[in-house]
Amino acid sequence: MISSDSFGLGLRTAHYSAFLAEPQRVDWLEIISDNYMVPGGKPLAMLDALRERYPMVMHGVSLSIGAAQGVDRSYLQALAALARRVQPAWVSDHLCWTGSNGHQMHDLLPLPCTDEALRIVAANVHQVQDALGRRLVLENVSSYVEFEHSTMDEAQFLSALCADADCELLVDINNIHVSAVNHGFDALDYLRQLPPARVRQFHLAGHTDHGDHLVDTHDHPVAPAVWALYRAALQRFGPVPTMIERDDHIPPLPELIAELDIARAIATEVAAEVAA
Ligand SMILES: [Fe+2]
Repeated sequence: MISSDSFGLGLRTAHYSAFLAEPQRVDWLEIISDNYMVPGGKPLAMLDALRERYPMVMHGVSLSIGAAQGVDRSYLQALAALARRVQPAWVSDHLCWTGSNGHQMHDLLPLPCTDEALRIVAANVHQVQDALGRRLVLENVSSYVEFEHSTMDEAQFLSALCADADCELLVDINNIHVSAVNHGFDALDYLRQLPPARVRQFHLAGHTDHGDHLVDTHDHPVAPAVWALYRAALQRFGPVPTMIERDDHIPPLPELIAELDIARAIATEVAAEVAA
């Protein structure tokens, strides 16, 4: 079980041995589903060993829930098989598209926020949820371009999608900040538009500041502005399972656990404020 006031880390191969060697002050692990959608071998053996020690959630990067031609059935079958093996607390991917007609771009590309896209994504979410036998959790991506023909903003789109497709949200606090700076919208207003009952998980991560724009690089500690937005998110949504994503310049595990302690401290402070 993963409680709302719990704190996890994204599992990375650099930390396999540390997690196996002794218990760590990490409540749960998030795995990248795609890395384990293989028939066998060392990754799955590691996964099974770690699964005995930690609750897990599954996070994918290639579902392409926005694909107009529908979700890839073989990918979905492999994802469902992995979910049966891992028995994760939940399964997430991103609100994006990652390719078309079998071509994988390995990028999380934003969607136009239109009624047409909403219908397509909702139909795809229903297909995924039928295959998994559980609700899908979708994450907001960071973006660098917007579509002129969007008729609603992203937070409105996510809120409508939750209602239409009965799915849940992984709110990436850093991605909101990155997109807010890049596109000039109000991050707090974005938070206010999301439905609290649908928020299943938070992501925290670092980004790179290029002066006139931010890039979601996951290679730095969490920035002060993102910690401030995390505090605001806790004030709006209450306790939500939170984790840090680091994908490059991965430090030794104790450094990430110390960074996770900052999240724990902020959550404790906000809970005390609310109680008072
Ligand atoms: Fe994320």
